[in-house]
Amino acid sequence: MADEIFENPRLASIYDPFDSDRSDLDLYESMVNEFDAHTVLDIGCGTGTFACRLAVKGIKVIGLDPAEASLKVAKTKQGADRVRWIHGNALDLRHLKVGLVTMTANVAQVFLTDKEWSETLLAIRDTLRPSGRLVFETRKP
Ligand SMILES: C[S@@+](CC[C@H](N)C(=O)[O-])C[C@H]1O[C@@H](n2cnc3c(N)ncnc32)[C@H](O)[C@@H]1O
Repeated sequence: MADEIFENPRLASIYDPFDSDRSDLDLYESMVNEFDAHTVLDIGCGTGTFACRLAVKGIKVIGLDPAEASLKVAKTKQGADRVRWIHGNALDLRHLKVGLVTMTANVAQVFLTDKEWSETLLAIRDTLRPSGRLVFETRKP
């Protein structure tokens, strides 16, 4: 189930203007290059800034998020037509196989219990190819 703040169309439409400095994504992008990841799954992609940024550079990317309103914003961006969008949550990985999973911004912090976090990590492990990686961060935990 999506968080109301990401599912509300009015709030989804102002997410990017309120968070316009996305230099935080530079490090993620550098890791896509460093790990030579050919397919990236961006879990909790939200309004799709990172997924579209990779797609315009020719990287195969899947953006997944439970908030339809945020995905709707994502689909308007440059490069969006080259992203595979999945409306779903982190346990809904549909037997995807990827080289790199990302959870940018505070996505990792939406999993509040040990059970939720363990289930999420297990689902991600199953979706990663051998030697694949998960990259995430925590903010003001
Ligand atoms: C702070 S936003 C970050 C969006 C994006 N990653 C970014 O860097 O702008 C957190 C996102 O996590 C998504 N989310 C919440 N619960 C989730 C879940 N169970 N599985 C995957 N994504 C989830 C929300 O819908 C929201 O889009």
